[in-house]
Amino acid sequence: MSIALIIPDRKLDDLQYRLQQALPQTRIEIWPELYDPAEVEFAVVWRQPHGCLNGLVNLKAIQCFGAGVDSILSDPTLPDLPISRIVDPALTAAMIGYLDGVMSYYRLQLDMFSRQQQQSLWRPKSPRKLSRITILGLGELGSAVASHFCQQGYQLAGWARSGKSLQDIQCFAGDEQLHHAVAAADVIICLLPLTPSTENLLGRDFFQALKPGAIFINVARGAIVDDTALLAALDHGPLGAACLDVFRQEPLPPASPLWQHPAVLITPHVSAVTNVATVVSQIAENYRRAQQGTGLLNPVDLVRGY
Ligand code: NAP
Ligand code: GLV
Repeated sequence: MSIALIIPDRKLDDLQYRLQQALPQTRIEIWPELYDPAEVEFAVVWRQPHGCLNGLVNLKAIQCFGAGVDSILSDPTLPDLPISRIVDPALTAAMIGYLDGVMSYYRLQLDMFSRQQQQSLWRPKSPRKLSRITILGLGELGSAVASHFCQQGYQLAGWARSGKSLQDIQCFAGDEQLHHAVAAADVIICLLPLTPSTENLLGRDFFQALKPGAIFINVARGAIVDDTALLAALDHGPLGAACLDVFRQEPLPPASPLWQHPAVLITPHVSAVTNVATVVSQIAENYRRAQQGTGLLNPVDLVRGY
C-alpha cells in the first residue's frame, strides 16, 4: 500500500524522506511516478491538476498540504472522501511573524521612507499611530493573530461566520455585521477561507466602509478581494495602503496594475508556508486513521467548504 504526494512544482525529497521514516512499511511515492495507482490509499495534495485523483481507485482519504483547501475543493471531479488540512503551531507562528513585520513596516512608515529614498529626500517622521486592528476570520490563524496583537497592546475586533466570545476582542458575526467590524479599524487583516460565500466578498461596498487611510492586509486568498474595487479605493480613498501576499492568479501576472501601485506592498505567497518537519507526524497519524477508518485530525467540513 502507498501514499502519493501530489504537490506539483515543489521539491518533495524532504517530505518523502521524513514520511518514509515515520511510516517505514509504506511506500511513499511522488505523483505522477506511481508504481501502481491501485495501491494508493492516501494522498497528500496541494493544487492538484483536476482529475488526477480519479484513477486512485482505493484512495481512502485526502490530506491537504496546507491550511486552505479551496484549490482541492475546486476540482469538479473530486472523489467523495474525507479531507483533512494542516493545523500547526509552527504555521501559526510563521503567520504571526509575517504580520508583526508588516505592522512594523507600516507603523515605522518604511513605505514612505522607501519612496523618499528614491528621490534622495531626508524627511524625518515619527511612527504612525495604528491602534485598532480588525481580523476577518477568527479560526485557527485569525484567533491566534488577534490574541497576539491584543497582547501587544492593540485594540482588536474580529469577524467570523458564527458569534464568538474571545477575551478583550470585540467580536462580530455574519454578513450584516461586516461593515461595523471594520469601520473603526486602522488595519484590516484578512484570514478568511476562500469559499463560495467569501469569493469577491471584499468589494466596493466593503472598501467604502473603511476609515480614511486604513491599511488592508490580505494573507488569505486573492479571490476573496475584488481587485478593481481595491485599486479604486487606493486611488480615490478611503484606503491608504494594501499589503498583498495572495492573488487571484499566482504568480501575479506581470501586467497586473498591482505591481506598480505605489501604495501596494507585494509578497509572493510566503506569509505562512507549511513546515515539512513539523507536519509529518500529523500526516502520518492521518494515514493510520484513514487505514483504520477512524476520524481524521483537522477534518474539513465539506458543506461549509473550510
Ligand atoms: P479556519 O480555522 O477554517 O478559520 C476560518 C475562519 O473564517 C473562521 O473563523 C470562520 O468562521 C470564518 N469564516 C468562514 N467563512 C466565513 C464567512 N462566509 N463569513 C464570515 N466568516 C467566515 O482557517 P485558518 O486555519 O484560520 O486559515 C484561514 C485561511 O488562511 C486559510 O483558509 C487559507 O486560505 C489562508 N492561509 C494562507 C496562508 C498564506 O501563506 N498566505 C497560510 C495559511 C493559511 P467560523 O469560526 O464562524 O466558522
Ligand atoms: C497556504 O496558503 C495555506 O493555505 O496553507
